[in-house]
Amino acid sequence: MADDTREADWWRDTVIYQIYPRSYQDDDGDGVGDLQGIARRLDHLVELGIDAVWVSPIYPSPMADFGYDVADYTGIDPLFGTMDDFDTLLAAAHERGLKLILDFVPNHSSDAHPWFREARASRDNPKRDWYIWRDPGPEGEVPNNWQSSSGGSAWTWDATTEQYYLHTFLPEQPDLNWRNPDVRAAMLAAMRFWFEKGVDGFRLDVVYHCIKDEQFRDDPVNPDHDDERDPPFGAVIPTHSTDQPEVMPLVIEPMRALADEMGHRLLIGEIYLPHARLMRYYGEDGSGVQLPFNFALISAEWSAPALCELVTEYERLLPKDGWPNWVLGNHDQSRIATRIGPARAAMAAVLLLAGLRGTPTIYYGEEIGMEDVEIPPDRIRDPWERNMPGKGEGRDPCRTPMRWSDRPNSGFCPQDVEPWLPMGDVAKGNTVDGQRGEDGSMLSLYRALLALRRSQAALHVGDYDTIAAQGDLLLIVRSAAGSRLAIVLNPSDASGAVELPPGAGDPRILLRTQANVALEGGTRCTLPAGAAAIVAL
Ligand code: GLC
Repeated sequence: MADDTREADWWRDTVIYQIYPRSYQDDDGDGVGDLQGIARRLDHLVELGIDAVWVSPIYPSPMADFGYDVADYTGIDPLFGTMDDFDTLLAAAHERGLKLILDFVPNHSSDAHPWFREARASRDNPKRDWYIWRDPGPEGEVPNNWQSSSGGSAWTWDATTEQYYLHTFLPEQPDLNWRNPDVRAAMLAAMRFWFEKGVDGFRLDVVYHCIKDEQFRDDPVNPDHDDERDPPFGAVIPTHSTDQPEVMPLVIEPMRALADEMGHRLLIGEIYLPHARLMRYYGEDGSGVQLPFNFALISAEWSAPALCELVTEYERLLPKDGWPNWVLGNHDQSRIATRIGPARAAMAAVLLLAGLRGTPTIYYGEEIGMEDVEIPPDRIRDPWERNMPGKGEGRDPCRTPMRWSDRPNSGFCPQDVEPWLPMGDVAKGNTVDGQRGEDGSMLSLYRALLALRRSQAALHVGDYDTIAAQGDLLLIVRSAAGSRLAIVLNPSDASGAVELPPGAGDPRILLRTQANVALEGGTRCTLPAGAAAIVAL
């Protein structure tokens, strides 16, 4: 690759790490993480071997949705620090060769944003049309059946101006009207502000929600919805409220044009859609986001045939020049080690960081095998849990503070301060300090995997020679520049073996997640239940 292409496409050969800033490192002693705290922990990220950091929102916010309700798109919330702290963090990241990606929340602002305050002041306010207002039905009812993802109707009545406004999430998060060119200009100006500072890209929050059906038609009713079991938003299929054809021309293409104008900046789309519909967001000829998040592993069945089918289907649907990406979790999802168990989480890491082609994103804490923490009722913070109790929608368990050491509060915040969410049971074995340098720890595995990925072209840019289920085991063979590696996984509950394809010499195990992975008779790799290995062929 020529140097300028390599620079332009830096995000292909990159491992991204997501930081939920409230929970990474508290530096000022208030029990909530902050920017100086992140800066203090950059060396952990360098040691780990990642290339880019995505930080969830740090803008001024009333924190109804912990920062995903933005009151000023070009400021820093004092809870996280100052603009100087941000500039220092950006410079410190760049000094260490790390890219910094911010979270941009285009679909909605906070109801405390001056734009919304103006908009709701009167029907003829110039900002009125920056949000989405509708008259009530004849009996005063909501304009249509659209559901809020945070629970309840997506419409809230504004008594002053006697209209409903739309909020795809909490009532404190009114949806912006992206059909209005002034909104588009204001949002692009905010992105430009950060790009000019040197930010390397944005993760675009629920970007596929930004445009709604112009006629506000009811969403179709979901016949499979069970009121008892399912969250209320599942009662309708969001045909008219999400994924509209105009999202590309009105929202994403202008953002991408700006990212390109600023030079080599990355856009990642948070888009929860089936693969077939996700692909549209790559855009024609690179006019979309470079990485439409592929969340398939979050809901995947962890069996060899299911994984094989999922990867094959995704690769088949990828557009020409579309670069793949994969994630195991994020701040909205139960953690991988809780979903599939700690041993299998190590196997999942091998799949993510070595088995799969494309750009992986690690969620903070995955590298030490963090699990969901049970939240006592009096410590619940997430409004989703309050609005939809018992439906599994609460996100506090996966957002608990990072575990640095086995000191009280785990080095996250001072010991006499209560962390904003409980730490759970901290022990030496589940902290960064306790796992550093320990053979067989998750942290050692992540570091070894990332080092191997960096040193082996087959792992960071290699193609697939094979993706196949051999019974209950998965075999992936990847190659580049003359080297061929087999990545073998045993997601099943029993030990098993994979027949390796012939290679140039004797196969050699480069990495394994459990001690008793072995090569037998030259071409057979045996793996205990839940184990994975990388074998040079
Ligand atoms: C995204 C975020 C989530 C937030 C929602 C509304 O899904 O990841 O945390 O609540 O958007 O902004």
